Amino acid sequence: MKGAVFIEFSVLLLTLLALDQAGPTGHMAVDPSNWVWLPHFNGFMNLAICCMLVFGYRAIRRGDRIKHPRFMLTACVFGVVFLAGYIAHWAIFGHQRFPGDDWLRTLFVVVLFSHTVLAVAVVPCIVTIIVLALRQSFDRHRRFARITLAMWAYVAVTGLFVYVMNNHIRPVPLY
Ligand code: HEM
Repeated sequence: MKGAVFIEFSVLLLTLLALDQAGPTGHMAVDPSNWVWLPHFNGFMNLAICCMLVFGYRAIRRGDRIKHPRFMLTACVFGVVFLAGYIAHWAIFGHQRFPGDDWLRTLFVVVLFSHTVLAVAVVPCIVTIIVLALRQSFDRHRRFARITLAMWAYVAVTGLFVYVMNNHIRPVPLY
């Protein structure tokens, strides 16, 4: 739990630092043209998380109790980096409406909504299964981890979907 609190505080601190950059008018003191790489970086982090989850799952299915935690904990670190990048994206570019009023936008909004709800819900689940694993309650870890992994994989894959839609299918100018 101490780790979870540390992560929460780190994210809070990053948010405050990013918001501190905003001037009194709400405009960023940073130049957005220097940050156009950020959406691609965040997309890449999502891809990296997908890979770590696949590798971690394959490792434990093969019975490898050394590589499994390594891959899964790497996925957690990538998740924290992604969260920092995501908050920075919001602070620098603000909200961007997905263009259009057709079925593709409806699909985008539905997927984004389910992605966001599960992304919030999965964080305490991840903390719980890590704590269970560290306490060597592997039976409970395995049972709870299966559903957590399914949720996390959904969040990571839909995160990629959102990235592709926003940046490649219907890109909007960032600033
Ligand atoms: C957030 C990170 C983690 C996720 C998503 C995760 C996911 C999983 C899943 C889905 C299984 C069940 C595999 C199956 O279907 O048979 C499993 C089993 C296992 N995990 Fe993790 N795991 C994580 C972290 C850890 C850590 C940090 C450790 C060790 C310190 C660990 C040790 C194990 C062990 C030993 C098993 C086998 C349990 C058994 O079959 O008795 N896991 N994990």
